[in-house]
Amino acid sequence: MKDLHSDRILILDFGSQYTQLIARRIRELGVYCEIWAYDNTLQQIQDFSAKGIILSGGPSTVTEDTTPRAPDGLFELGIPVLGICYGLQCMASMLGGDVQNSELREFGHAIIEPCEENRLLSEATQDVWMSHGDKVTSLPQGFKVIAKSANAPLCAIADESRGFYGVQFHPEVTHTEFGKDILARFAHDICNCGNDWTASNIIDDAVKHARQTVGDDHVILGLSGGVDSSVVAALLHEAIGDQLTCIFVDNGLLRLHEGDQVMQTFADNMGIKVIRVDAEQRFLRELAGENDPEAKRKIIGRVFIEIFEEESRKIRDAKWLAQGTIYPDVIESAASKTGKAEVIKSHHNVGGLPDDMQLKLLEPLRELFKDEVRKLGLQLGLPAEMIHRHPFPGPGLGVRILGEVKKQYADLLRQADAIYMQELEDTGWYDKTSQAFAVFLPVKSVGVVGDNRAYEYVIALRAVQTIDFMTATWAPIPYDVLANISNRIINEVRGISRVTYDISGKPPATIEWE
Ligand code: XMP
Repeated sequence: MKDLHSDRILILDFGSQYTQLIARRIRELGVYCEIWAYDNTLQQIQDFSAKGIILSGGPSTVTEDTTPRAPDGLFELGIPVLGICYGLQCMASMLGGDVQNSELREFGHAIIEPCEENRLLSEATQDVWMSHGDKVTSLPQGFKVIAKSANAPLCAIADESRGFYGVQFHPEVTHTEFGKDILARFAHDICNCGNDWTASNIIDDAVKHARQTVGDDHVILGLSGGVDSSVVAALLHEAIGDQLTCIFVDNGLLRLHEGDQVMQTFADNMGIKVIRVDAEQRFLRELAGENDPEAKRKIIGRVFIEIFEEESRKIRDAKWLAQGTIYPDVIESAASKTGKAEVIKSHHNVGGLPDDMQLKLLEPLRELFKDEVRKLGLQLGLPAEMIHRHPFPGPGLGVRILGEVKKQYADLLRQADAIYMQELEDTGWYDKTSQAFAVFLPVKSVGVVGDNRAYEYVIALRAVQTIDFMTATWAPIPYDVLANISNRIINEVRGISRVTYDISGKPPATIEWE
């Protein structure tokens, strides 16, 4: 098989909120790409041997001297370049064109008309997504205009002899009608990249790589039942079979039947070696009397590490610790001030294992976006429900029971949450929300259940829609669906007499209640 990474594109990031989207689109086209900060050196860029370079958008303006530029010499490398928004302006100004602040800013929909035949844009007039204040006002030498919009006569430009293209709009967002075609033409036609980056090739490659790396050694993996660690388990099982041992710590703060489901999927169905540690009592004991959310998180994290460490010491010949680190984690930490792309997942932070265990880190998903991880999971035969499940925080129900965690509260919450999830599934709302869950409020409220006065606890329902979990809106679940969920919870869960729906956005609220 050809090296999956040889046809590669480099994306230089100038800080646009859409940069990761560009990378995901390029990967969807079957082309491997990486995102780097704009200020990497020319030598580093040359060493990467990309077949094409994309300059992302960004919040700055090239009309000021101190704002970011591409490294000097980038345009002499003989590699095709596509500049998007700020990337276009940066290219135009570095190559001798003019960019000015525009009186008429364009945000949102615009229509572009093609001007001249070219390899990037088709002849069609199309709807595009704009987001800019500046615009190119005079062309650099060798360039021609290939599309115009009402407010930007030089909206897309090209120097086809050098393979340089620039677009003022964002081809990576779905609002741009033929955005994917534009990126495909750049990657495939202009840069000559093939389309080998597919789920099955990625699996073959990762399996081969894991075998080579690990040899005859043994590997341990903390399995949480979440998508990333599940896919690592399935992948490594394929690669090294019995040399993999998973440790699954059941902290008693999981969802209804979750522990049994994890064992069924991995141990029973797939034949993966999984050690299940039933540690509910230990977690509850450690959490007793603690009300503070951050203190609860710390306790749960610490006890997890203690248990993980105890169990992994029993696996004597283990040399490797596998982790479900994915590409966005790597990009985030690379972008941070330290500049080093080393990261330990905060979720169940097993990075805290003592040095004397001397386990080497194995991160087979390190190059992958979440949607790619999901595709791999499905291809590896993991159940679709597991792959498409909403994210679940490491501390689990520990941060969804407000204040002190007690077994009684966790049991009530599990039942209510299961009813809520089932109704969302049945009404099609599970897939329309990004994250939904029930929260247990340890306050009592008066109600009438049957003919009797009830004085029981309260459940809050939370459901949000979001792309990046940094901001979120509450989901507009229809009243009749909510009414049904509320009725079922109050009727079926003894101990709950009132249900509320959370209508707070993020910001100012967070998604979790603690
Ligand atoms: P917030 O509540 O900060 O949540 O708006 C954003 C996303 O992060 C998840 N979350 C956590 N995940 N450990 C985790 O692994 C945590 O302590 C934690 N706190 C919040 C939350 O579920 C949401 O998806």
